[in-house]
Amino acid sequence: MSSAPDVTIRRALLSDEAAVMSLGDVYSGRDYLFALYSDLVQDPDTYPVVAVVNNVVVGFYLTEPFDGGVTVIKRAGRVAESYRGRGVFHLMEAELERHTAHERSQVMYEAVARTDKVDHLIDRFLSKGYRPVYRKGIMNKLLKPSNYGRQGNNTHLTLDLKEMSRQDLSLMFHAENDEPRLFPQKRLFNFYLGYRLMDENIPSILCKGGGAFYSATKNDVRTDGCEPYHKPNGNVQSQNGSSHIRTIDNRSSSADSNMKAKINDVKRIAMVTFYRFLPTRTGYLYFLDVYATPEAVTSRDYLQSHLQRHLFTARRHFPKTNGILCVAHDLHIPKDLISSSLAQLGICEDLEGQEDFQVLYEKNDIKR
Ligand SMILES: CC(C)(COP(=O)(O)OP(=O)(O)OC[C@H]1O[C@@H](n2cnc3c(N)ncnc32)[C@H](O)[C@@H]1OP(=O)(O)O)[C@@H](O)C(=O)NCCC(=O)NCCS
Repeated sequence: MSSAPDVTIRRALLSDEAAVMSLGDVYSGRDYLFALYSDLVQDPDTYPVVAVVNNVVVGFYLTEPFDGGVTVIKRAGRVAESYRGRGVFHLMEAELERHTAHERSQVMYEAVARTDKVDHLIDRFLSKGYRPVYRKGIMNKLLKPSNYGRQGNNTHLTLDLKEMSRQDLSLMFHAENDEPRLFPQKRLFNFYLGYRLMDENIPSILCKGGGAFYSATKNDVRTDGCEPYHKPNGNVQSQNGSSHIRTIDNRSSSADSNMKAKINDVKRIAMVTFYRFLPTRTGYLYFLDVYATPEAVTSRDYLQSHLQRHLFTARRHFPKTNGILCVAHDLHIPKDLISSSLAQLGICEDLEGQEDFQVLYEKNDIKR
């Protein structure tokens, strides 16, 4: 290790953008900072820092709060290649930790994500007080306009998919906090970010360029003695999956029964897939995060319909550009199932040198 340079750590400014970008794409084509730099740096809730040596920016790192401010995550860290291994990252990390401890009194948890690329750092994470809270499989596939012909169009979906509203997601979070079916860790974790199932996180999830699709279970047999599933529009889903119109009782159109129907609706979700897309310097990134009940994993229809819908969305927004599809999935959803379903839609090519899993770490001993 060469001797530590004379480094200043200060808050990153919008005017540092070109200098930070000149540090390059540090995530093999998946660097989201190009798209998010100005938003992240101007967000009053984030704390972005740069490392400066002789007036030259040589590093960048950031903390961003979630969960209504009780969690901060460190992300987008990078150091200029010629300055690596000389303690620059440590200095930025120490400043972020100082800021969290002294300027964010409401923070209870500090989080950081890593991939299997840095398995050798596990002891470092543990010795700093982090514990692993969620491990997910990941895969990265190349999206090329030349493959779009294989994907058909959106009208050929085998399942009825719906776009999730903020109210749906809120109801889903509440149901899952009571009894997790889709989110076993009571967390969402993709895009290197971990979210507790809290309403405060919804604007960051269902946002410009981000959203979710869901599909209800095809199995309509209830074991809890409740009525069969009533779609909010008054249709009754029959056991074979077809629907017929039932007479709508006036009372059932009240706000209360509408809400009950919506709660019932979210409790019957078998698969939900979140997306976020961002332009990059060379194309675009499409992050896809899959959650499913065991039933939805045994039937290929769910995944096939969801993937088709996402590819349609990607194609609509980036019709002529190459992209990277970054899929995150719970470990009970087999990688092979995702890979083969994507292959059927013409998406076969892997991003070179990709990772297999990502882990969310968290610690709660914030030294004040
Ligand atoms: C990771 C990186 C920022 C390290 O920068 P650096 O200035 O060489 O780091 P330092 O000299 O301060 O020391 C390296 C430290 O970084 C740690 N480190 C390396 N990769 C890390 C990662 N992904 N997450 C957290 N810490 C990491 C090392 O364990 C080492 O700490 P230790 O001495 O306590 O073991 C740099 O290699 C880089 O820019 N890599 C590409 C981007 C990247 O992988 N970022 C991941 C962090 S979000």
